[in-house]
Amino acid sequence: MTEKELCQKAIEMLDRAYIPYSHFPVGAALECVDGTVFTGCNIENASYTPTICAERTAIFKAVSEGYRDFKRIAIAGRSEDFCVPCGVCRQVMKEFAPDLEVICLNGKGEAKHFTLNELLPYGFDSSWL
Ligand code: THU
Repeated sequence: MTEKELCQKAIEMLDRAYIPYSHFPVGAALECVDGTVFTGCNIENASYTPTICAERTAIFKAVSEGYRDFKRIAIAGRSEDFCVPCGVCRQVMKEFAPDLEVICLNGKGEAKHFTLNELLPYGFDSSWL
């Protein structure tokens, strides 16, 4: 899949976001090393803390289906700013894909590229245990 196609999948997920509280949609498309793609959206809850981000939805869908080797993730939002992953999602990315490429999109579909190491330097992982 091309980067553009992966980004398009993340953008399409914006319409699936369940966001009655924040009204802030996020879509994600996670590409595995073998080319399989898992998508996700944010899903909110009246009790707030059970809310899950789009990135973790995609990652947990993949892991629960037996996929753990990830190459890159596209994250889409509708705002002017590039939609960067929250700290919790960065930590979950670190668990499975310390070298993940992270593509952050703004509402115009423009992309900014990061490595997970740039977003989470000196991050905690199993080597500390
Ligand atoms: N959100 C994500 O889906 N991904 C992020 O990395 C940042 C935040 C969601 C959670 C919540 O539904 C809304 O955006 C506002 O925080």
